[in-house]
Amino acid sequence: MREVPDFPRPGVVFRDLTPVFSDPDALRAVVDALQDKIHPDTQLVAAIESRGFLLGAALGYGWRYGVVPLRKPGKLPAVAHRVSYDLEYGTATLELPADAITPGQQVVVVDDVLATGGTAAAACSLVERAGGVVTGVSVVLEIPALGGRDRLAGRSVDALISV
Ligand code: PRP
Ligand code: HPA
Repeated sequence: MREVPDFPRPGVVFRDLTPVFSDPDALRAVVDALQDKIHPDTQLVAAIESRGFLLGAALGYGWRYGVVPLRKPGKLPAVAHRVSYDLEYGTATLELPADAITPGQQVVVVDDVLATGGTAAAACSLVERAGGVVTGVSVVLEIPALGGRDRLAGRSVDALISV
């Protein structure tokens, strides 16, 4: 992992997992460790744009989950639901594709980093608006000082490492 001061805004120390993803052994170790903690009833991965896509696709292929991309605005041709939220460094919106989740489907939310938890909370809300059941939130890295776990109170949150 690389720590980049003042990215993407002055005062933010950005934890960059790109070196983990580009190392074949590290990527495999991370994906396997995420899978170890995913609830066994899970049927579908909701992967958050953009680094969550890398993890979600690997999990979906490796363990036969379907994968649903939760996208930034303006990317999806057909949107089922949209949620806006605050970030550590600004505001953002996530959209859920139409017809991606069937009511009652068991869905894990996957991303690289849990910081304030705004993104993951929005992702859970999107899944639930479509009638899905969130089995948990799985991330590689949690930044506990930013309080993401509190924002996800009552949910199962699995992080491989905390810094
Ligand atoms: C980062 C990260 C998470 C989110 C975590 O994504 O990949 O999705 O922020 O922050 P939060 O817990 O405070 O909501 P970013 O918005 O930088 O988008 P990107 O992956 O497309 O670069
Ligand atoms: N790294 C990656 N994503 C993030 C971070 C970070 O440090 N903070 C908020 N989102």
